[in-house]
Amino acid sequence: MSETRGASRVVALVPAAGMGVRLGANAPKAFVPVGGSPMLTLAVTGLISSGCVDEVVIMVPAELVDETRALLPVSDTPVHVVPGGAERTDSVRAGLAAAPDASYVLVHDAARALTPPSLIARVVAELRAGAQAVIPALPVTDTIKSVDTAGAVTGTPDRSGLRAIQTPQGFDAELLRAAYATGTRATDDAGLVELLGATVRTVLGDPMAFKITTPLDLVLANTLVSQNNSREAVAAP
Ligand code: CTP
Ligand code: MG
Repeated sequence: MSETRGASRVVALVPAAGMGVRLGANAPKAFVPVGGSPMLTLAVTGLISSGCVDEVVIMVPAELVDETRALLPVSDTPVHVVPGGAERTDSVRAGLAAAPDASYVLVHDAARALTPPSLIARVVAELRAGAQAVIPALPVTDTIKSVDTAGAVTGTPDRSGLRAIQTPQGFDAELLRAAYATGTRATDDAGLVELLGATVRTVLGDPMAFKITTPLDLVLANTLVSQNNSREAVAAP
């Protein structure tokens, strides 16, 4: 538990209602196990372990709401399960509606199941220090090019000015509500807030917060968990 909590509540919204088409598993992605635990269980456990989150709202496919309750970690932190929507933004909107008393909102993909609690704490610390919107960012390692519809290169932006963005993305709750009230769409929550003209700050992301999107990502995630478990087994007395 954080000593700085007081009356200003941090609510984490966890979009977990996607179908995981690119992963191609025979279950919605957030329910696919990594190291034996469903991704959504790992993501919620990470949020609670950060010690900075007062409440969690997880958005899942409507038919899996009851099943999800049995997958949640036992904790003093309240965790609510609500139906998500057809698009990620619809799921976040449903989560926002279920968090009316939030002062700060984190939006954190279930698919970033191995996100270190220290990164979550970094985002919350920036919010509590007064930032209105905070996102984790890493330098890009590939050269990025823009292309036209035929696939011909139209430009090569300077890589030093580019960042790959992760979650949790943190917001002043009123700002995120205002961004969602516009009804516009963007590929991430910060994108909506940027459209309102608000300043979005970056904090250093973490490679372990990678999003499990493809079968290769799932192999990597399972390998990382099993290596960590075997290290712990060796270290145990
Ligand atoms: N998500 C959601 N509601 C949706 C779509 C996505 O809550 N309608 C969630 C996913 O469950 C995931 C996160 O948003 O935790 C990031 O989305 P993504 O990685 O694209 O997951 P999926 O949409 O499930 O995967 P795909 O695009 O391959 O189908
Ligand atoms: Mg998707």
